Amino acid sequence: MKYIISTLSTLALIFICTLTAHAVTPFAPNVDLKTGAINVPDNYTRWATLGTWAHSTMEGEPGSHEYHVVYTQPETIDYFQKHGRYPDGAVLVKELLHAETMKMTTGPAVSHATKLKGWFVLVRDTQGRFKNSKLWGDGWGWSLFNAPDSNKTVSTDYQENCIACHLPARDLAKPDAHKDDKWIYTLGYPVLQ
Ligand code: HEC
Repeated sequence: MKYIISTLSTLALIFICTLTAHAVTPFAPNVDLKTGAINVPDNYTRWATLGTWAHSTMEGEPGSHEYHVVYTQPETIDYFQKHGRYPDGAVLVKELLHAETMKMTTGPAVSHATKLKGWFVLVRDTQGRFKNSKLWGDGWGWSLFNAPDSNKTVSTDYQENCIACHLPARDLAKPDAHKDDKWIYTLGYPVLQ
């Protein structure tokens, strides 16, 4: 009898713990569920790289002066390859890096990244969670950070700070892409094609 009671209470405890854990588990690792505040995830450099955008110098010596390197969780890639869309909780971190160019044994103008400038972060939200936040809408959370402060969002309103520049992505997206995914420049991420 004692054994049964202790087994039952252990089960009850596990049940309660699971419930609470579920209630406080964030859907994405870098989002405060109460406020919708976003930060740059600590471990994103251990995630997978989706792709890199090289920004060429427009005058003077040829080469790149800036790189945008985009990271995401490995699970996002698995999900996208299976279902053709970004899953709830997908985090896209775009790292902005200065770059310089030199003559190397591989070529006359070889560019490499130097200093980190900041991060643009997007978090996929299929549920419309943060209706009162101006950082959330159109299926995503939108935030900009200046290095080195990865916790302080410097953008204030995604409709003013982000949307206009992401409009062209809609025409570049595949016609059958999910409407919210059409905000993303997915053409630059061959691993998802
Ligand atoms: C000046 C135009 C411009 C503005 C403003 C802008 N974006 Fe972008 N964004 C782009 C372009 C173009 C790309 C892909 C090419 C590149 O980075 O050079 C991109 C890519 C991204 C990516 C990588 C995922 C993707 O869509 O391919 C993230 C993350 C991102 N932007 C977030 C944001 C957020 C958040 C804001 C607002 C705080 C914002 N962007 C504002 C133009 C812009």
